[in-house]
This record gives sequence, structure tokens and C-alpha cells, in this order.
Amino acid sequence: MSISVFEKFPNCLVMGIGAAETICDQVKRFGDITKVAVITDEGLKDLPIVTNLLTILKNGDYDTCIISGVRSLPTDANVLDAVENVQQFGAEIIIAIGGGSAIDCARAVNALYSYGGTLEDHNISKQKYSYSKSKLKPFIAISTTAGTGSEVAAGCGIIKTDPNTGEGIGFYIISAPTLIPDVSIIDPLMSLSMSPDLTAATGMDALTHAYESMVSTNNFPISTALSLEALHMIFSNLRTAVSDGRNIEARDAMAIAATTATMAFQQSGLGLVHAISEGLSAFALIPHGVANAILLPPVMFFNAPCTQGKLARIVSAMGVDATHFDGELIEKVAIYKVLSLMKDINIADSFTKYLTARELSQPHIFKPISRDIVEKSASLAMNTSFIRNNPRDVSKSDVDAILELLFTDYIFS
Ligand SMILES: [Fe+2]
Repeated sequence: MSISVFEKFPNCLVMGIGAAETICDQVKRFGDITKVAVITDEGLKDLPIVTNLLTILKNGDYDTCIISGVRSLPTDANVLDAVENVQQFGAEIIIAIGGGSAIDCARAVNALYSYGGTLEDHNISKQKYSYSKSKLKPFIAISTTAGTGSEVAAGCGIIKTDPNTGEGIGFYIISAPTLIPDVSIIDPLMSLSMSPDLTAATGMDALTHAYESMVSTNNFPISTALSLEALHMIFSNLRTAVSDGRNIEARDAMAIAATTATMAFQQSGLGLVHAISEGLSAFALIPHGVANAILLPPVMFFNAPCTQGKLARIVSAMGVDATHFDGELIEKVAIYKVLSLMKDINIADSFTKYLTARELSQPHIFKPISRDIVEKSASLAMNTSFIRNNPRDVSKSDVDAILELLFTDYIFS
């Protein structure tokens, strides 16, 4: 396998085994830079995938500052701390190494560091700034997961926390096409150390992106093509990536599939799954990919009356010859294929199962969540922009019914 470079798709993509080791070449694109800020997750900072890149940068005579401590869903405190560090260091370029959390955090840091202002000033409801490329710092993303596709995304959600309790109370959304990283490096060697659980969850996130962009009301031929190819690659490779994490072909295919699915939804938008999962991830700390996976089959069932024209192509991308199936059968096959994949990669099919297992296995960390959290998530879902792209109109009682099904017999605190 060789390294491929695509300059404007929608940014510059540098892909292939060993692509991350070209980091100095990528930094050189932006002129005489000496000070490089690297933003990464706490759990990654001492791993060779990060330390090797820092060594390469140092050997390239770059002065580096490493900012870690980004939590799995970045908070306002994470972003503000990072901005302060980047300011003190005087960074000339920002490099994010990690999954969606580190890259999203770096995107927000770039906005605040380049333009000043508070997170509220940058919130999409106000959007005081133009985010011109000439003012933003150069931004390189190196993905270490295969799911969020944050390396080709324009926006990020930063959790707004209660200053007294530290608990999540909402989101700041920062988004602009110019906040897409200038260069995204997709190197399968960077995702080899992902655990089977993380591989499964991030892969299901990518699958949800592909499905939701495909059925979105904003879907159009280019996003259709991207969605279908991503679905095909995920169904062909996710099981292997989970069961045999050292399989470089499966890792490479999943990394490209995740980027492809995000390029699709950047054009056509997401839907009801992401609308509901946002709150559950922020308030109940259910990993984004897991929350999406659990919501996906019931949302596919809910959407089915309005997605009939697309399901034949979706199941075909999943590897099923649907030529002679009628509408209702196609719907059942599509949902069955997703549930069967989830079973094979060990993802629960209800929040009751997931949360109960989590509370039993880690009682020192996780206690039963309250019913308020579910209600707060349902209300938040109705206020997201995702709802507008969903193929079927959604009411609050529809969201309540889906959540009721997925929390059946759960014992709330
Ligand atoms: Fe997602």
C-alpha cells in the first residue's frame, strides 16, 4: 500500500500506512512555522502513536507543546484550559491527534485562539465571527479512531457545564466550513491499538452516519454515493476490525469508511439517532457510538414508512441481493442486518442491558441514572437541528416511545 494525497476532498487527505510519519511535510505546507501545539487525549499522550510523532516533530526542529486531558466528550473547561496553554506557548499551528474528542476540542481551540471571545460568542446561535482562513491557525488532524470522521467535519459540540457541580447542562455548537482541518491524516497504523469495544462503538457511529445521511431529507447524489460506499465498507470490515484488531486491511477500510460517511453527512446532515444520542452521551456518559448503535434499529423501524425508496439500495450495500424483496421485507432485512452486526461485535441492543452491565461491572464509577436524564435528553433531541433532516416528522411522544422501548425494565435511581 502506498500513501495517497487528495488535495481538496473536501480538504487535503493524506492516506495510507505510515501517512502520519509525513507530519513534518504537512506542517511545511504552511510556511516557516516553528511552534506546534499538539492536542490529544490523556489516555493517548504516553502511547507510541503520539510519542513517536512528537519525536518526529522534534527531529524536524519544531518546538512542541503537548496539551492532553481532553475528556471523552470535551467540556467548556477542557477547551478554555487548552486555549490558555496554546496562548502561553504562542502556537503557530494546531495538530490534533486522537478521536472525535481531541479533534473537536482542537477545532474549538482554534476558533477561540484565533478570534478571542467566549464560548458563548462562538456558539452557532450567535456566531459573531467569520472564521476566515487567513485568520485561523493552520489545523492538522490525525485520526486514531475510525468512527466520528471529525477529521473532515466542520463542527463540534462542546459540553456546557454547571460551574458549581461540573455536570453537563447543554452544548455549545461551533461550526463553519473553514474549521475543517486543512490537512487530515488517515493512517491505519494509528488505530491498531483501539480496543475491540472502542472499535465496535466507533464503527457503529460511522454506520449511523452513513444511514442517516442516506435517508436525510437533504440527501443528494454525491452524498448517496458516499453513504452507500461507507455502508458497504463497514459491513465488509467492521467484524474483522473488532475480532482481529491487528488486521491492517480491515483497519484501513474502516478508517476510510468513517471518513467517507462523515463526508456524506457533512453534505446531507444527520437525523433522529444523533438527535437523541447527544443528550444521553452528555448527561448519562453513554459513549456516542454505543448510544447511536442502540438507537439505530428502532429509529430505522420508525423511519421505514418514509425510507422505502432507499432501503433496497441500503440492504444491497449491506451485501444482500434485494432484487425480489417487497418493501416490508426489505425493512425487516435492513434492521436484521444491523442487529446481527451489533450481536457479532458485542454491542447491547437496549440501554437497559448496556447500563445494567456497566453498573454491575464498574459499581465504583457508575450508578443508575435518573429518569430526569432521559427526559432531559428527549427534550434536547427536539431542539436539535438533526430533527429537521429526519425523513419522517418526529414528535416528542415519538421520541418518548423510542426511549421507553430502550429503557424497558431499567431501574432508575
Ligand atoms: Fe456521530
